[in-house]
This record gives sequence, structure tokens and C-alpha cells, in this order.
Amino acid sequence: MDDPLIERAREALAEAYVPYSEYRVGAALRTADGTIFTGCNIENANYSNSLHAEEVAIGTAVAAGHREFDRLAVSSGVRDGVTPCGMCRQTLAEFCADDLTIVCDLGDGVATYSLGELLPETISASTLSAADRENAGSTRGTEPTDEEPT
Ligand code: THU
Ligand code: ZN
Repeated sequence: MDDPLIERAREALAEAYVPYSEYRVGAALRTADGTIFTGCNIENANYSNSLHAEEVAIGTAVAAGHREFDRLAVSSGVRDGVTPCGMCRQTLAEFCADDLTIVCDLGDGVATYSLGELLPETISASTLSAADRENAGSTRGTEPTDEEPT
């Protein structure tokens, strides 16, 4: 394996805290300036608070002041080509364009996707600004009213 970003994702999964699933995931996210941020999954006894490796990587990068990314690598301990889950795809879409490259570790190679391929037709900031434009000029829903709903 000579993909350096996959190597970083593999290193990151060594720190995974996975007492419940025992399924380790590592992620490595490359910024536009070439800096690499990594993350691993961190589980919780209530299950739903568990953090995904990609969330940790993007959260760490954004907290360090980065918002432009061009490549993400993901690896699981069993090198099964795991892809970011739906939630992580949406989180990535907040900061990354459809052409973000996502490489997934197959052990003896990688599966390569674009974010647009994994998450087509996503909701984004432009969806909300389009709704704002549509509502402009209409007072519907903006004034309080005493009228009973019909
Ligand atoms: N997991 C990730 O870290 N990233 C994903 O996008 C898929 C799932 C983690 C969450 C949980 O700790 C374990 O993998 C099993 O779902
Ligand atoms: Zn996820």
C-alpha cells in the first residue's frame, strides 16, 4: 500500500476506542494546503454518543481553522473497504465539494469514490438560501396571529 493518506488512516485506527463494536475505523483528511488531520472512532456506553472517525478528523481540522479539503482516506481494522456512513457523508458535504476524493482501504488496494457519487442531491447551504429567496417578499409565517388555525 503506497497511498500515504491510507497509511495515516491506518495509524489513526490504532487509537480507536471501541469496547462495544470492536470495529476500529481510522480517517485521514487532507486540507487544501496539504495538512493532514486524522481521527478514529470513539464509542460510548449509550451507543448514540459514539463519534465516527471521519467526524473526529473533520472536527479537529475545522477547529484548527481549516475548511477546504481535497482528499479523505478511511480504513477499518479489517480493511474491508468501509465507506463513510450517511451521517459522515453529510458532515463532509458541509465543507467539501462533490469532487472530494474518498479512498477506502481494501487491504491490497483502494476503492475510490467522489463525495458526489456517495451523496448525490444533498441538502446544503445553497438549498437554504434558495428557500430564503423563494420566501422573500412573502409575509406568510412572519407575523404572529391570534387566529385559530383552520
Ligand atoms: N464508524 C465510523 O467510525 N465511521 C463510519 O462512517 C462508519 C461507522 C464506526 C462507528 C462505530 O464505532 C463502528 O464504526 C461500528 O459502526
Ligand atoms: Zn459515520
